[in-house]
Amino acid sequence: MENQEGFKVEKVLPYEQQGGKKEQIVRMFDAISDNYDPMNRFMTFGIDTIWRKNAILSLKNFAPKTILDVATGTGDFAINAFRLLQPDKIVGIDISEGMLKVGEVKVAAPEFQSKIELKVGDSTNLEFKNESFDAATVAFGVRNFEDLEKGISEMCRVLKPGGHLVILEMSEPEQFPIRELYRLYSKTVIPTFARLFSKDRKAYTYLPKSIEAFPQGKVMTELLKKCGFSSVVYKKYTLGVCAFYLAEK
Ligand SMILES: C[S@@+](CC[C@H](N)C(=O)[O-])C[C@H]1O[C@@H](n2cnc3c(N)ncnc32)[C@H](O)[C@@H]1O
Repeated sequence: MENQEGFKVEKVLPYEQQGGKKEQIVRMFDAISDNYDPMNRFMTFGIDTIWRKNAILSLKNFAPKTILDVATGTGDFAINAFRLLQPDKIVGIDISEGMLKVGEVKVAAPEFQSKIELKVGDSTNLEFKNESFDAATVAFGVRNFEDLEKGISEMCRVLKPGGHLVILEMSEPEQFPIRELYRLYSKTVIPTFARLFSKDRKAYTYLPKSIEAFPQGKVMTELLKKCGFSSVVYKKYTLGVCAFYLAEK
């Protein structure tokens, strides 16, 4: 998984042609932004809404007033976090303007005005000062980072001491026969539907490849500690199809 040159997932790219991971990820999410939300619901049978809710509620006892949602995409996680946690402010950042454009329509609703702000930003170079936020969240984003360690270290930097980071990410189940069923689904069913319904077929072949290459469990827990977090809780959701991490700075 890890070597001196970084993590295997950092080398998994959506397209064959030249360009760094960041440029390719921007291109891919810009291309699929219009139907990203419905494709998400379809691919997870809507279970992602339960994963998101559980992950957000893990922050409830800490009552964060300021939240940074990294890789916010079309804003669903930020919107759900606002509804469930009622913070003073949520800032969502993402490198894809296409994804943010879809999110901006949603957060223009009066209930979110001056509460949720979406802007272009890169996880590996956050524009915020040290110790600016009570909590940071990333839902289904870390797998796409060009530099995973830098991204996590940056989120740690902008959190206040005692602040919390929540990460949700897709993962490959480890146990037979769930793993085999999952592989069949992700490598045949998802690409077939992507061919039919998505503007960018490559995006949905990148998905299982990047999930397979992404560090999970103990490796992720150790990485979070290396990046400055003191304690980490790791849970598997839905037979290991999704991974949840709660880390404290
Ligand atoms: C699968 S989407 C997840 C969107 C949203 N968080 C959700 O829960 O639906 C991944 C998002 O990560 C964003 N992303 C990837 N690398 C990023 C980076 N280095 N900094 C900020 N956003 C990034 C992509 O542009 C994309 O919108």
